[in-house]
Amino acid sequence: MDHFSYSDGELSCEGVALSRIADEVGTPCYVYSTATLVRHARVLAAAFEGQDYLIAYSVKANSNLAVLATLAAEGCGADVVSGGELQRARRSGIPASKIVFSGVGKTAGEMELGLAQGIHQFNVESAAELRLLSKVASARGTQAPVAIRVNPDVAAGGHPNISTGKKGDKFGVPWAEAESLYAEAATLPGIRVVGVDVHIGSQIGDLVPMRAAFEKVVGLTRRLRDAGHQIARIDVGGGLGIPYQAGDAPAPPSAYAAMIAEVSAGLGVQVILEPGRVIAGNAGVLLTQVLFLKPAPDRTFLILDAGMNDLMRPALYGAYHRMLPLKEAAPDAPDETYDIVGPICESTDKFATERTLPALKSGDRLAMMSSGAYGAVLSSQYNARPLVPEVLVNGDSYSIIRRRPSFEEMIALEEIPDWLS
Ligand SMILES: Cc1ncc(COP(=O)(O)O)c(C=O)c1O
Repeated sequence: MDHFSYSDGELSCEGVALSRIADEVGTPCYVYSTATLVRHARVLAAAFEGQDYLIAYSVKANSNLAVLATLAAEGCGADVVSGGELQRARRSGIPASKIVFSGVGKTAGEMELGLAQGIHQFNVESAAELRLLSKVASARGTQAPVAIRVNPDVAAGGHPNISTGKKGDKFGVPWAEAESLYAEAATLPGIRVVGVDVHIGSQIGDLVPMRAAFEKVVGLTRRLRDAGHQIARIDVGGGLGIPYQAGDAPAPPSAYAAMIAEVSAGLGVQVILEPGRVIAGNAGVLLTQVLFLKPAPDRTFLILDAGMNDLMRPALYGAYHRMLPLKEAAPDAPDETYDIVGPICESTDKFATERTLPALKSGDRLAMMSSGAYGAVLSSQYNARPLVPEVLVNGDSYSIIRRRPSFEEMIALEEIPDWLS
C-alpha cells in the first residue's frame, strides 16, 4: 500500500498535491512519501516479529540521505556495496553494528573502512576477496566478521538482468566450492566466520525459488556446523517483488517471513534481510511534463521532459511504470494511445509503447509511479542534463532533499588543460 492517490481531482502524495511540487520545484523531479517508507519498513518488521532478524535496507535501491535517515529512525540497518554507500548509511544515522557489506568487488580501502567502522558483517563472494580481507584485517590486528555468499544455482524467475543466483552469474561462490572455502576461511587469521549469505535476484514475486535457495542454505548451514564452523546468521538477501501494474500480485512480506521461519525453524540463527525495492519502490514517483505530441504515420509520440538518464529502468530492463496524470481525468475523457519517449538521443529512451492514457496535451504533467527504487540512484547527467531533484513529503509538507544542480555545479569537477586555453 502506498500514499499516492487522487484527492479533489489532484494526484497527491500524502497531504500534498503533486501539481504543487511540480510548480514549485519544476519537472522532472522525484517525490518520495515518508508515510509509505515507514509503512513498508513496519510491515516487514511486523512480519518478522518473533524471529531474531535484522532489516539491512539495501542502500542501492535509493540512497538519498533523507530516505536513509527515515529508515534509520525505524531501526533499519543497511546493506551496502561500496565505501560511498557505507558512508551514506553512517551519515544518515545507521549504526555500524547494523551494516552488512555486500558486493563482488570490494577494494582494500573499502575493507579498511568497514573494519574501521566496526560493521556487522562482510558478505564475501570469492576466495581472492576472502584472502585479501584476511590480510587487511590482520594488518589492523583484528578479525573481519564474514558470511560467504553462496550461489545456490537457483533461477529466480523474472528478468535475467536482475537474476543473480544461477550458475554462471558473477555473484556468490559456486555451490560446489562453498564448503572448501569455509574450511579455508577457518585457517585465515583475519577472518571470523559468522554466517552464510545468499541473494538470488530482484523483483521476485514467487516464493518457490526463494524457498529452494533458502532450503539449500539451511542444509549447508547444518553441514558447516557439523564441520565445526560457528554459523550464527543467515543472510537471505533481498529480492521480494512489488506490484508495478494491475494484476501483479507478488508474495506479501507476511508469507515471505512465514516461509523463512519455517525453513529455518530450530536453527537458532539471526536472519538478515536486505530488502530494497519492497521498501522504496512504491514510495516514490517521478514527475514529468509533456513537452510535445509528435504525430507519426502509424503512431503518436508523447515527448516528455524526463529521459532515460533520469529513470533508466525501462531502457535497462524493459520495466513497466504506470503513468498517472497529475490532474485526474474526467470519467468521459477520451483516451489516446501513445509511444511515450524522453528527449535523449538514444532509441532506447522510451518509457512505454502503445500506452493508452487519457488524451494529453503539451504542458500536462504525469507521475511515473513506482519509481522510488532504482530510479534516482541509476540516473546520470547524460546529454549534459542536470540530475533531477528529489523531494520528501511528510504529511502536509515537503522538503527538497536533493536540489537540482546549477550548470556551474555540473561542470565543477572538470578542467580545460593549460595547453587548450
Ligand atoms: C546483494 C543484494 N542484496 C539486496 C539487494 C536488494 O534487492 P531488492 O531491491 O530486490 O530487495 C540486491 C539487489 O539486487 C543485492 O544485489
